[in-house]
Amino acid sequence: MNDRFWRPISIDCIDPGLFPSVALYLKSTGNYVLYKNEERPFTEDDRRRLERNFTEFLYVRTGDLEEINDYLENNLTEILARDELDSMAKGRILYQTSVNYVIDVFESPEIASNLARSRKLIQHLMHYLTTDAHALESLQSIVGHNFYIYTHSVQVTALNLLLHEQLFNVTPDEMIDVGIGSMLHDFGMIFITEQVLDKPDALSQVEYYKVKQHTQKGYEFLKRNGLNSEVALTIVRHHHERYDGNGYPAGIKGDNIPRSAQLSALCDVYSALITDRSYRKASTHADALKMMREEAKGGAFNIELFKRFEEIITARKTNSTA
Ligand SMILES: [Fe+2]
Repeated sequence: MNDRFWRPISIDCIDPGLFPSVALYLKSTGNYVLYKNEERPFTEDDRRRLERNFTEFLYVRTGDLEEINDYLENNLTEILARDELDSMAKGRILYQTSVNYVIDVFESPEIASNLARSRKLIQHLMHYLTTDAHALESLQSIVGHNFYIYTHSVQVTALNLLLHEQLFNVTPDEMIDVGIGSMLHDFGMIFITEQVLDKPDALSQVEYYKVKQHTQKGYEFLKRNGLNSEVALTIVRHHHERYDGNGYPAGIKGDNIPRSAQLSALCDVYSALITDRSYRKASTHADALKMMREEAKGGAFNIELFKRFEEIITARKTNSTA
């Protein structure tokens, strides 16, 4: 059955008192099996039973998603405030809600102009990242339930918010723009065909040229469709620039590259390296940083900024494993 018709919902997100009446499915050996129909409410017993069986996700039909998204976004404050939720559970809920948002924007680009939705979400994400020492680790451990591009978009958002918060004196409004830009940084990929995106081997020159256009095309589309934050647009357009001028699309150099784009480039590369791809396995945190250090020494990144990046990411790692 086609996975595109189904969307995973973490069972932590299901608050029995508030959850809308939609049918829920279990995934069993690749098939979706009805768990409860829309008439029967989801109860605390359901949650306990599923937890005993180590079920983390139920699935809904994409046709029911609008209701689920409304529920998640309207009740996020109450859901996240529940005492019994640990860091992982909160991470799963925020990750889920963020991924739903990114998928929706990729599938229905006109949603990008509805900034109220992303603004609220990023405020929650920001609060979680700055108040929970395990947040980054929790978010990073939640992968494999969605396509790479969505996971990656949320991961870059989390990293970029945290880095901006720790390194620069950024106003809350600007922080939201950093979040929106990060969430949508690869949005221009919707203009690239799937054959090119999913190709397991090296890209031809023509294909690589096409992939590189995602920065400029994403920027132009979002600008035309009501995204007017300079910071957000800069992240979308310039997250592949390199400090030595060897990046794209503009090939700008050094500190002519806005700082938000420089940080986004670091977060983007790090996230890509620590994730499994069709053409290579994920690197460990240490290996990813080692590769990036070499690149920084070779001129690709501002070496001072890279060192700060490394310190912050590594401190978070140590925090959460301690
Ligand atoms: Fe990109």
